[in-house]
Amino acid sequence: FVPTMGCLHAGHLSLVRRARGLVGKKGRVVVSIFVNPTQFGPQEDFSSYPRDLKRDRALCRDAGVDVLFVPQAEEIYPPGSSTCVLEEDLSQTMEGCARPTHFQGVTTIVAKLFNLVLPSVAVFGAKDFQQAAVVQRMVRDLNFPVRVVVAPTAREKDGLALSSRNKNLSVEERAQATILSELIRIARTAVAAGPVDAVQLRRRLAGAMKTKPAARLDYIEFFDPVTLRAVSRARPGTQMALAVFVGKTRLIDNGKL
Ligand code: PAF
Repeated sequence: FVPTMGCLHAGHLSLVRRARGLVGKKGRVVVSIFVNPTQFGPQEDFSSYPRDLKRDRALCRDAGVDVLFVPQAEEIYPPGSSTCVLEEDLSQTMEGCARPTHFQGVTTIVAKLFNLVLPSVAVFGAKDFQQAAVVQRMVRDLNFPVRVVVAPTAREKDGLALSSRNKNLSVEERAQATILSELIRIARTAVAAGPVDAVQLRRRLAGAMKTKPAARLDYIEFFDPVTLRAVSRARPGTQMALAVFVGKTRLIDNGKL
């Protein structure tokens, strides 16, 4: 099962290929497309989130997807819905701070999709590192009979992580959006010579952003990849995640230092 919010790109198709590899020719690969309203805050981009169902259908057909599940919002959230799933540890930092209701929306929809699709394996992208960790914790804590597989981030040649939101970037913003992967590269080089104070490294990376006037930093975190706890000194093996507004579009990325 590959849950998505649609506007599919090569990153999603790599998840589909991974799913096929896991279940084999005789298995069934299910993709869901649902732009889940509950994971967007009131001031966020739910209405401008890119949608292209016709193209998505064709891409899924060409990629050999067996079932495309495109539920309607009223089917997923019938009037009077009053139950949600809340992960209360890993969801508290980074995206959880910047987007306070986001993970409650994610865990609730993923739990509902798991119950509807009943997959043996679900494939998530590593670009949403914290999301994958939160979903894995939910699966463990609530005993969902699902194996969660996290597949690598697909990138453009210049390093930009593939994201449906990249569609909303102007030509100039697209050129400056490489800053996310550039900052990960700069941080990796910085720690290669030995541990670096996280505050100083963050300051240095914020300085490097000045070359990209369309980009505005939301956060940069250095943390343990298992507990997601922030570290005071970044070193090889530390995970880095960041969120940056490029124009009005908010992009995220992460990588191991
Ligand atoms: O990563 C996404 O596209 C979404 O957060 C997900 C997992 C499909 C839940 O809506």
